[in-house]
Amino acid sequence: MRRYKVSIIGSGMVGSTTAQCIVQKDLANVVLIDIKEGIAQGKALDIWEASPLNGFQGYIKGGSDYALTADSDVAVITAGIPRKPGMKREDLIGINGDIVIGAAQKILEYSPEAIIIVVTNPVDTLTYGVYKKLKIPRNRIIGMSGMLDSSRLRSFIAMEVGISPQNITAMVIGAHTESNMIPLLRLANINGVPLNKFLGQDKMEELAKRTRLAGAEIVGLLQTGSAYYAPAMAITEMVEAILRDKKVIIPCSVCLEGEYGLKDCALCIPVVLGREGVEKIIELDLTPEEVRWMNEGAKVIKEMIGCMKI
Ligand code: LAC
Repeated sequence: MRRYKVSIIGSGMVGSTTAQCIVQKDLANVVLIDIKEGIAQGKALDIWEASPLNGFQGYIKGGSDYALTADSDVAVITAGIPRKPGMKREDLIGINGDIVIGAAQKILEYSPEAIIIVVTNPVDTLTYGVYKKLKIPRNRIIGMSGMLDSSRLRSFIAMEVGISPQNITAMVIGAHTESNMIPLLRLANINGVPLNKFLGQDKMEELAKRTRLAGAEIVGLLQTGSAYYAPAMAITEMVEAILRDKKVIIPCSVCLEGEYGLKDCALCIPVVLGREGVEKIIELDLTPEEVRWMNEGAKVIKEMIGCMKI
């Protein structure tokens, strides 16, 4: 049986940690790409040297030549400049726009059918930019945001209630920005039991706020970069859902064509992920307040899209 192949563009902390997670789960052969000579080769070799210990059956290679990525099933773009303290995700648009569109172009040259996951920030804007510029079917261009934001929210709820994070269902939709991320706490539950049986409104609002600021919380602590462990696991969940055709509902940033009354932008909404990428978009019945918030998020993302060369 042919093994799947995943290429990861950018071998900084998010890219290389994702490669390690994919290898540890033995999901696919992995190619790590970086423009800086040596980095991707070195990290790939380091991960490979653990293969006798973690039971990995495939290969992981690194380099700067996109020819290595040929025939990838999934490509994950993490390349770009990360946030520094005091920066918002949206401050990165110009430079990261060029990097991400350039990377997507090269991926498609060698793997015209690949499903592309955009991770680089500002993720909603760049996901839409790649879609618009390269005219990829929208089921194959997906931004990673809600999987991470939801995992953070679930982990915060778990800490508060003292129940396993795996038992907690909670979803974050909207834009991957501090002001327009929408933690849907009214739908959150613990194995079917509504969250308001465990937490009062004030506490829930506190956790929602911490979730919106969670990326900045890590940036503030690290001082020299942004989060990578939780982002890498979130990406790996999405890659696994696609390669194993799991058909699980995951909130992802997708290009909207009328869903939620919105178009010409990408925002995070729940979708079914499977072998075709985004196989179905789920339209939630949102409250008027949530609708206002989604519209506001769309407006912000469209303004940023306006600053891109597409
Ligand atoms: C964060 C970055 C990855 O939320 O956007 O940590």
